[in-house]
Amino acid sequence: MTGTPVPEPSERRGRISAGLDRLDDFTRHVRVFVSRYSPRVLRRAWVGTGHAINRWLPKGLLGRSLLIVVVPMLILLSVLTGVFMDRHWILVTQRLSDAVAGQIVGLATIADTNDLTDLQRAAIVASTGGAMGLNVEIMPTSEIGRLRRSSTDIVHSMLADGILKRTHMPFSIRDLKDDNRIEVRMVVHGGVLRVEFARNLAYAANWHFFLVWMVCTALFLVLVSLIFLRNQIKPIERLAAAADAFGRGRPVEGFAPSGAREVRQAAHAFIGMRRRLERQIEQRTTMLAGVGHDLKTILTRFRLGLALLPEGEETADLRSDVAEMEAMLEAYVDFARGDADEAPQPMDVEATIADCLRQMAEPVGRTVHSTFTGDGALTLRPTAFRRLIANLVGNAARYGRSAIWVTGERREGWLSIVVEDDGPGIPDSELEAVFRPFYRLDAARNQDVPGTGLGLAIARDVARSHGGDIELGPSPHGGLKATIRLPA
Ligand SMILES: Nc1ncnc2c1ncn2[C@@H]1O[C@H](COP(=O)(O)OP(=O)(O)OP(=O)(O)O)[C@@H](O)[C@H]1O
Ligand SMILES: [Mg+2]
Repeated sequence: MTGTPVPEPSERRGRISAGLDRLDDFTRHVRVFVSRYSPRVLRRAWVGTGHAINRWLPKGLLGRSLLIVVVPMLILLSVLTGVFMDRHWILVTQRLSDAVAGQIVGLATIADTNDLTDLQRAAIVASTGGAMGLNVEIMPTSEIGRLRRSSTDIVHSMLADGILKRTHMPFSIRDLKDDNRIEVRMVVHGGVLRVEFARNLAYAANWHFFLVWMVCTALFLVLVSLIFLRNQIKPIERLAAAADAFGRGRPVEGFAPSGAREVRQAAHAFIGMRRRLERQIEQRTTMLAGVGHDLKTILTRFRLGLALLPEGEETADLRSDVAEMEAMLEAYVDFARGDADEAPQPMDVEATIADCLRQMAEPVGRTVHSTFTGDGALTLRPTAFRRLIANLVGNAARYGRSAIWVTGERREGWLSIVVEDDGPGIPDSELEAVFRPFYRLDAARNQDVPGTGLGLAIARDVARSHGGDIELGPSPHGGLKATIRLPA
């Protein structure tokens, strides 16, 4: 069992983590300082807020790490979008609108000259406007209509600003219903200049592509970090599973430290701990077996010596004492050895219970009431489990009066077995004490029942090594109720 020791990784800590540690120290000092000198109401509010936030935070490491990645990204995106919208987009729209306003005013200036005929003016204005991407015509004065620009549209107001900056000619701006176009009318020499153009000529139109790209990239990055984070968390889950299996006495197969340095350190620490524990158990077992063996040799000598003595009342007493000591030693060594070496195997719990009842309860004339619900096929250490059931059923048969009730149930990942009898039961104050090795109540009760007082200690040992436990209490049938719960 004792293999070559695995070298545990030395605590190599980089300069960055040392710096972070110093930062931790500093914030701890600040916290202590603030909490010492801040009013109590404030302190309580602070603690309350902390608890409230904690309740809403994800509980798993994956969720928390993801939050640590996603929240800063969202903040960054919001800030970027805000700055972009505020500065870049408005600036570009302003430049575009200003350029269009300049072109319109230029056309208006041409249309306003006195030196040309109406036809010449119309031709020059139309062809120049066409070159600029604008639809331009000069309409009769009657088309002036009502020159209004009451719109709050940002493009309208920027266009208006651009025009007002250059000329004092009266003008109107309105949206045309079709095709997202804008129309500007301006009063010029002998008519009305009408300029019509696509809205995106004066407007940074495709800014939302920026948003779409940003959101899609962010989602993609979150997805990628999710995959990487999961890989970081898997070794921790494996370590937890290994520690759990070890705690339940199941074999820990193929577990090797992997993942980030800290996780590997924890895994090495776990492996070291497991090895030390196993060594300790082994040492204890070997020592107790040795002691038991030595004492048994002496007892055998003792018995042989007794056999040579003449028969009498005193020698008979001595002989029965020696026999009792031998039985105790046997039980003790058995207990110390335990069943830790036994490998878990698939077995039928229901059949084992029925078998124990048949062997231990029926021969002494107890009526048996036994039920089992759920699937009885489980992977347990068969001999140990049998010993557990046999000890409890044996107690019920030994201390009960006429009947034994055994109720087994497998539900929601747990196997529970309840053994009850109609005997004297155990007083509340002794319910924990009877689990101690060699602890018996019979002396006080003046009962002359054989036994060493190891049964319940062994039973609890077995239950705990399977990751479960035993509880004792009063039964409605008048005697003791022993409840075994094992993870299934
Ligand atoms: N069903 C029961 N009803 C009343 N008392 C009980 C019952 N089971 C156990 N006890 C009390 O608890 C004590 C400890 O029980 P435990 O099974 O550990 O030892 P034991 O039965 O005396 O000996 P062993 O089981 O080692 O042969 C018993 O001596 C007995 O006084
Ligand atoms: Mg017993």
